Amino acid sequence: MGQMVWKSSFAIGIEEIDRQHQLLLTYFNKNMENNSAAVGLFGKLKAYAGEHFAGEEKLMRKINYPGLEGHQLQHRLFEEQMEHLEETVKNNESQAIIALVSFMRDWFLDHILVADANYASYMRATMAEDDIAMLVAFGCD
Ligand SMILES: [Fe+2]
Repeated sequence: MGQMVWKSSFAIGIEEIDRQHQLLLTYFNKNMENNSAAVGLFGKLKAYAGEHFAGEEKLMRKINYPGLEGHQLQHRLFEEQMEHLEETVKNNESQAIIALVSFMRDWFLDHILVADANYASYMRATMAEDDIAMLVAFGCD
């Protein structure tokens, strides 16, 4: 089945966020081993993604990130698309798995490498390295 390989170029340079993104990928791969496993993917993936998105959005709010609104919109679209993909996989529609894997691949390339990398650059431009680490780890400012 469609496995995705973590590449160092996926890293946005903020350790905790990179760890979460990597975990997301590992979890996805684990559940893509066969068709029926993919059906079980959605519950936990949606819950985990929801938590991860909420954390990112909280972070962006704290640093007054100007791109927050657009970024949030992308997260909501991900959630909507997951609902749709879940339906197609559950209904065993042809191409459902291919569509799911290609969606996740695009998500890593378009969202993580562009939108997430953008807020990371903004943080680095406006904050000291140790402040970033403290904020991400403990949510303090
Ligand atoms: Fe994001």
